Amino acid sequence: MEKYAKLRTYLLKNQATWLVTGVAGFIGSNLLEHLLKLNQRVVGLDNFATGHQHNLDEVQSLVSEQQWKNFNFIEGDIRALTDCQRACMGVDYVLHQAALGSVPRSINDPITTNFTNIGGFLNMLVAARDAKVKSFTYAASSSTYGDHPALPKVEAHIGKPLSPYAVTKYVNELYADVFARTYDFKTIGLRYFNVFGQRQDPNGAYAAVIPKWAAAMIQGDEIFINGDGETSRDFCFIENAVQANLLAATAGDDEKNEVYNVAVGDRTTLNDLFHALQVALAKSGKTYGKEPIYREFRTGDVRHSQADISKAAAKLGYTPEYRILEGIGKAMPWYVEHV
Ligand SMILES: NC(=O)c1ccc[n+]([C@@H]2O[C@H](COP(=O)([O-])OP(=O)(O)OC[C@H]3O[C@@H](n4cnc5c(N)ncnc54)[C@H](O)[C@@H]3O)[C@@H](O)[C@H]2O)c1
Repeated sequence: MEKYAKLRTYLLKNQATWLVTGVAGFIGSNLLEHLLKLNQRVVGLDNFATGHQHNLDEVQSLVSEQQWKNFNFIEGDIRALTDCQRACMGVDYVLHQAALGSVPRSINDPITTNFTNIGGFLNMLVAARDAKVKSFTYAASSSTYGDHPALPKVEAHIGKPLSPYAVTKYVNELYADVFARTYDFKTIGLRYFNVFGQRQDPNGAYAAVIPKWAAAMIQGDEIFINGDGETSRDFCFIENAVQANLLAATAGDDEKNEVYNVAVGDRTTLNDLFHALQVALAKSGKTYGKEPIYREFRTGDVRHSQADISKAAAKLGYTPEYRILEGIGKAMPWYVEHV
């Protein structure tokens, strides 16, 4: 925490300009909230493909009037180079989050996922390189580990991608590396592992498991578990992901042109997650008494996932502050209030 605490103190006194793409989404809006609270200037880019105005409205309600004045929102599309160029103008640090998430979405519509996640990424790289930004940090993904069986996952050992989404996130890493070699434009990729927390969308066919189950429990709906429930994930609370982004953005040259796992280093099965959410809901004064319904495994899903976070710890000073139960304890009251 020490490095992160020092960085926050530094930022509070030294204003810079940040670009957060995907700012109306889950991770983007949380980055926005933290940066504005640190008195930073933020340019946000989003086309509302999966993000929401209400996420921005909520951030506005959580910061001061003065801090909100430091935010400049551009409604635009990363698939348009001119939108990326406009957004990158005068920016110091880029936190590139915009993409179409979800493995099933990419299986149903690989073309749109490809255009957004690869074409949009390349546009952002070119625009940021030409704008001579100080750093470019991007959302990579644990899906890049694909079918590699080793646990915990170490950055250097990846397998074959198991979905179109995983291909796009891997191609991002390849492009990032080529930009370092070809143009000396060095970036940092953060391989997120199942990030969760406030403002993660519980609605729609492609919702992630924690918001989807939290909402289902609050509404008394059935909960389906794909497979036997022993599928496991390294669930990472949003505050940890925010920390990783700020540390990465301000890291030195030696830490760049690298990818880092962003998680906790724990492994939680879906069965354990179900019970943890039930307990957290009970603490919020509600109960969910139904048993989960087990169904087929989902195509493209990795069976187990757990990160080795020692590289991010050693090189970036990343020390996740929240383990899964603490994160769920913070996220559940938000869902109770907002669902
Ligand atoms: N949440 C996770 O667990 C997780 C895990 C691994 C990687 N990631 C990556 O992190 C990033 C953020 O994910 P999230 O969970 O906040 O998802 P999200 O869907 O809440 O946010 C993505 C944002 O990008 C915007 N966007 C999509 N296409 C765009 C386009 N063409 N132009 C401009 N904006 C566009 C969306 O409107 C949305 O606001 C994504 O790159 C995602 O692939 C997330």
